[in-house]
Amino acid sequence: MPWDPDIFTGSDVLVTGGLGFIGSALARRLVELGAKVTLVDSLIPEYGGNLFNIHDIRDRVTVDLTDVRDAAAMSSLIKKRQFLFNLAGQTSHLDSMTDPMTDLNINAAAQLHILEACRLHNRDLKIVFASTRQVYGRPEYLPVDEKHPIDPVDVNGINKLAGEWYHLLYNDVYQIRACALRLTNTYGPGFRSSATGNSGEISISSPT
Ligand SMILES: NC(=O)c1ccc[n+]([C@@H]2O[C@H](COP(=O)([O-])OP(=O)(O)OC[C@H]3O[C@@H](n4cnc5c(N)ncnc54)[C@H](O)[C@@H]3O)[C@@H](O)[C@H]2O)c1
Repeated sequence: MPWDPDIFTGSDVLVTGGLGFIGSALARRLVELGAKVTLVDSLIPEYGGNLFNIHDIRDRVTVDLTDVRDAAAMSSLIKKRQFLFNLAGQTSHLDSMTDPMTDLNINAAAQLHILEACRLHNRDLKIVFASTRQVYGRPEYLPVDEKHPIDPVDVNGINKLAGEWYHLLYNDVYQIRACALRLTNTYGPGFRSSATGNSGEISISSPT
């Protein structure tokens, strides 16, 4: 079914991870479409968030420096919104192996808190969750499709899978409209290279 971009005109949209690579590009597009956009981001220094990413739309969005692990704050932010693009995440596969609890708390536990807030306060919210192609692990065939076996090879892949399935469960059980996108090697302006050694992203020369 073709999507109608007019659904965002005048709508109240929350983007977690909104100061990151994908979140800021999405925010730019939502502003163009006439949405009222609030960006939630923790700006944890070693992560991908950066105010420069929204320098050209800074006066057209609201920025809320909140950590998605703050359940009370997220509960308040979710009320009365119409759409949630849920992109905030610990994205480093390497870091997820050396600091698995942080990855668990951001990519899984915080997601459950957000969904609980939706169940209690805003069941009409429509959610898009950013999952990852990494849930498939090493490809058994190419191109990887949705029928490919799930076989995450690191803590990040397992926690993203949990985050994804929480969203799908709340969709099925509580009819909170949610979907998950298993993003693959996203790249473009503002892309954070792995020069810092903590990105863990795959080279764009080997798309899967
Ligand atoms: N870029 C890709 O190729 C790719 C591939 C697969 C999945 N994804 C997923 O898409 C989402 C966005 O990725 P990106 O490439 O834009 O990464 P990014 O690092 O540029 O953006 C993530 C944002 O989340 C914020 N964040 C992290 N922890 C937070 C917390 N606890 N509370 C609030 N904000 C927090 C960061 O500050 C950052 O701004 C992530 O969930 C990532 O796992 C991205």
